[in-house]
Amino acid sequence: MKQTSVEIAPDAKQEIVEGLTQSLAETAVLTMKAQNYHWNVTGMAFGPLHELFQEIYEDHFEAQDELAERIKALGAHAEGRHSEYLKRSAVNECDGHKSDKEMVAALKADQETVSATLRALAELAEKQGDVVTNDMAIGRAQKHDKFAWMLGAHLSD
Ligand SMILES: [Fe+2]
Repeated sequence: MKQTSVEIAPDAKQEIVEGLTQSLAETAVLTMKAQNYHWNVTGMAFGPLHELFQEIYEDHFEAQDELAERIKALGAHAEGRHSEYLKRSAVNECDGHKSDKEMVAALKADQETVSATLRALAELAEKQGDVVTNDMAIGRAQKHDKFAWMLGAHLSD
């Protein structure tokens, strides 16, 4: 018989929800950070960076909903407080006072951080037989890896 999310053992489900919440927290912090950079970036590459940062925060905003609704589908409570996100997140806030190059480098590092969180979640979900969360986490990690590459391409000479 096929395993549904309801049939995942409670302990395993709790662990998966923790991973999803960590991913949600980091995605939320990074959404706001990318939007802050979208507003405050300066320099000759203003146009393309303003647009790329928008593409990033729009993607991340949608992902927050996807991750939170997976938590709900697993029967758990979806955290929605920024104060809690900041406590959990390995991605830090930034006041936006940075050069264009520093912003690109910071966002690249942050994309790699969230990708690592999601890859760990994908492995955990696979181990526990939660194929839906596994698929979602892999899809999200792919997006973060793509953004990390796009950001990093600005930094190579
Ligand atoms: Fe805008």
